[in-house]
Amino acid sequence: MPRVGEGDDFRGLLDAPIICGRKQLFRAAVQACGSGDWAEFGVYNGKSAAILVTELAKKEDPPSTKLHLFDSFEGLPGHWSRPYWHDMKAGTFNLKGRLPQVCKHPLVKMHVGWFKDTLPLFQPQPMGLGLIHIDCDVGSGHTDVFYGCQKYMSRDTMIIFDDFYDVPGIPPNPRLAREKDIWLAEGFEAFEQWVDDQNVEYEWLARNPTQRAIARILSPVPAAVA
Ligand SMILES: C[S@@+](CC[C@H](N)C(=O)[O-])C[C@H]1O[C@@H](n2cnc3c(N)ncnc32)[C@H](O)[C@@H]1O
Repeated sequence: MPRVGEGDDFRGLLDAPIICGRKQLFRAAVQACGSGDWAEFGVYNGKSAAILVTELAKKEDPPSTKLHLFDSFEGLPGHWSRPYWHDMKAGTFNLKGRLPQVCKHPLVKMHVGWFKDTLPLFQPQPMGLGLIHIDCDVGSGHTDVFYGCQKYMSRDTMIIFDDFYDVPGIPPNPRLAREKDIWLAEGFEAFEQWVDDQNVEYEWLARNPTQRAIARILSPVPAAVA
């Protein structure tokens, strides 16, 4: 289980400015992101997608920018273990064919299926991707997203991560208060491997007190070799 001890800032993550609230964190990414479409990986009941599409609709020049929503809607592809919360079995979040309302929004384009199958067919508009939100929990999904999207990333592409790390002492989970170590999620491990493998330059724009963070891409990312 990936952990980092006290005193380790985890590549600067813990030094990133703290923003409270998911909406507020999303807004920081929206304000800082470069041009290009937006994409979310892990939609489920559409709560985070609804925040994103509302922000997109508020932008001065929204007509051409799209929000691409990727999900199998069949739930997690594998078991997901998170020590301070309950483990989640494969199939958790299966909507059994009932897609959320946000999927019908005119600014949304749907990509229903497993990331590994939908990403090879995906092509955003020519400016690429300005903002990516990843909330798919399992590490392999993150890896699919990084390699599948990297050719569309450029300077100021924002990657917002959910369930990325847990910090001891942060409510509401009382078990965290008794632990010393920060817990790093599978997605964090996948991110580390990808940035090292592809020499990706990035910085942390901001983070929630726990769980969520925004990475800002600092340079063009080369296309992954198949
Ligand atoms: C935690 S839920 C997303 C929650 C949502 N962002 C929200 O705020 O309500 C995770 C979603 O990721 C999807 N998912 C996970 N791994 C996937 C993969 N490899 N391909 C497609 N969908 C995946 C699941 O079907 C599930 O709907």
